[in-house]
Amino acid sequence: MATAGSDLLPRFELSTKVGFFPAAGRAEHSLDPCRLREAVEQTNRDLGRAPDLVFLHNPERSLTGFSAANQDRLGTACAAVERAAAEGLCGGWGISSWDPRSLPGLVDGTLPRPDAVMVRAGLLAGIDVLEASEALAARWGLDPARLWGMSPFGGSATQPLWGKLDPRVFIQEPHDGLSAVQATFRVACWLPRAGRIAVGTDSPSHLGELVDALQYQADAGSLRTYRRLLREQRDRQPL
Ligand SMILES: NC(=O)c1ccc[n+]([C@@H]2O[C@H](COP(=O)([O-])OP(=O)(O)OC[C@H]3O[C@@H](n4cnc5c(N)ncnc54)[C@H](OP(=O)(O)O)[C@@H]3O)[C@@H](O)[C@H]2O)c1
Repeated sequence: MATAGSDLLPRFELSTKVGFFPAAGRAEHSLDPCRLREAVEQTNRDLGRAPDLVFLHNPERSLTGFSAANQDRLGTACAAVERAAAEGLCGGWGISSWDPRSLPGLVDGTLPRPDAVMVRAGLLAGIDVLEASEALAARWGLDPARLWGMSPFGGSATQPLWGKLDPRVFIQEPHDGLSAVQATFRVACWLPRAGRIAVGTDSPSHLGELVDALQYQADAGSLRTYRRLLREQRDRQPL
């Protein structure tokens, strides 16, 4: 018997993540290639089809800084997901990282090259995360279309900060009718320059508003200024 929505699945491009294992009372990240493989296979069973893309979830959580051993562990994990893709268990693979600061240093020519990298995006991502995300994409020679953004609202579209900062200053005029939430989302496509942004689908009207925002363009000058201010603020902080 078909499960609810299964007739819709073929009409969507599906991406998911492996590498976080929420076992009862002991949720953990892992780069164990056997567990990653099993998770990809489970995803296939759950969906009734292969996902189009599988991200390795927050590998930095299992890697403490730079070392040859960590480079090796990351390479082995990447190879496991890459192999799953080669065997048709997913259309492609990627790396999703909440805090990619430690990752660019681990990437050399021996690591498999992902099809996509997903990172935090937007005005609240922070300059260190932005720069590390761009460095990570550059290490693999990924163009912006292969960089995906997540958490464009910094977790909440209603937190008090959004009442103090008008994100429409980062959008080219005219932007009559554009809401602050829409502008926040649109700006996330440029911080860092990303081809896709992950958002929730709970509310069709919210989703529609975010899609409508795609017709607006970011103001490159304001974004440059914003990044410069973030860098200056970081550089003023005591070491
Ligand atoms: N960010 C993460 O750390 C993370 C991690 C794993 C999975 N995910 C998944 O990724 C998806 C995106 O999550 P997210 O938290 O980054 O973003 P999101 O759910 O798209 O948006 C965050 C908040 O903004 C609201 N919002 C969105 N569009 C709006 C609009 N046009 N007007 C007013 N409010 C609006 C959402 O309300 P509505 O929900 O009512 O639209 C939600 O409360 C979700 O499915 C989430 O489960 C996120």
